[in-house]
Amino acid sequence: MKKIVLVYSGGLDTSVCIPLMREEYGFDHVITVTVDVGQPADDIKQAEERAVSMGTEHYTVDARAEFVQEYCWPSVKANGDYQGYPISTSIARPLIALKAVEKAQELGATAFGHGCTGKGNDQFRIEYIMRTLMPEAQIIAPMREGKLNPDGSRSPWTRTEEIDYANAHGVVIPQTKDKIWSIDENLWGRSIEGGHLEEPNYSPPEEIFQWTRGLGACPDTPTLLTIGFENGVPVSLDGVPYSPLDLVLKVNKLAGDNGVGRVDIMEDRMLGLKVRENYECPGAVVLLLAHKALEALVGTQSELKFKSSVDREWGELAYKGLWFDPFKEDLEAFINKLQERVTGTVTVRLAKGSAVVVGRSSEFALYNEDLASFDSKTFDQSESLGMVKIHGLQSRMYWLLKQK
Ligand code: ARG
Repeated sequence: MKKIVLVYSGGLDTSVCIPLMREEYGFDHVITVTVDVGQPADDIKQAEERAVSMGTEHYTVDARAEFVQEYCWPSVKANGDYQGYPISTSIARPLIALKAVEKAQELGATAFGHGCTGKGNDQFRIEYIMRTLMPEAQIIAPMREGKLNPDGSRSPWTRTEEIDYANAHGVVIPQTKDKIWSIDENLWGRSIEGGHLEEPNYSPPEEIFQWTRGLGACPDTPTLLTIGFENGVPVSLDGVPYSPLDLVLKVNKLAGDNGVGRVDIMEDRMLGLKVRENYECPGAVVLLLAHKALEALVGTQSELKFKSSVDREWGELAYKGLWFDPFKEDLEAFINKLQERVTGTVTVRLAKGSAVVVGRSSEFALYNEDLASFDSKTFDQSESLGMVKIHGLQSRMYWLLKQK
């Protein structure tokens, strides 16, 4: 029996992959795996129902808690960002692929299928994990390979062709209201692209947002939220301890209700394509803001300066999905060492689309009220004089030379 594990979202692309695997690629046993990383419950249920109706052996894996603990939290420690967006789609892909690999190993499948096209980033992220963990496995990406024409050539699938193929092969597809946006969602963020949004100058319509209120709908009274951190990760809200998963869901709600977390950027994809991307990531925006504020309180100037480049490198590796890269381990050694002191609280004010840090405290604060105050007893200002005189010695010599 030829078995294949298909990474299955329940959408049109991956649904079309099911009969394709059977008819074109000769697999008589299709195993569908849907990994729950916090997409809408309806999507998960719909995937289940479709898979069953098409006679696959279906599994839904609830990976939400693991996603927060093992992917979102490391990203918080590294202030995980790529070109201005708190990386979300990128960090979920390795886990989705990992869960597919686990199923394949458990069930004795030696092939994988996925619905990625040849233009995006996800094919890199997903296949990297599969090839790392099961180098011998065969990987099939029908959407990237294209539609097989009668003359044996292949061409990219059009949406109409996909729908025709689906109808001819008993694939249950949504009562096709025109699919306008392409959306990817997990509990760390929601990404919306496609349609008119592809035009860099097209202002995003209110309807694309689900987690964040528009300015007009935000409450007039701000929300003050105190986030407690231990070793670089959030553990409590307003003094109440939360599980990682519940904490993210709660901050998503509080920040989203105040219109915080919309991001609109031009993004350089791995293949070099520039794409316009809209995200809403209320929880991630607030937690990263608070985490950075706490690092600024406890880290030395040199540590913070160095960390910003470490963070950028980490973000790039994570964006590329290189989850097991040795460089990533090296960077994390530094990151985690510093996080030993990133313990304390940060208070954030959420109001009408903005999140502002209004307070921070830590037992590791490199701050001393007496030293910083204007009438300090221990800071003798006359001692600065010598240092000030010598400051910029070489640059002053250079200036003199230039006058000659
Ligand atoms: N460009 C983003 C990334 O690579 C997210 C793309 C998500 N896909 C979507 N159909 N919205 O991380």
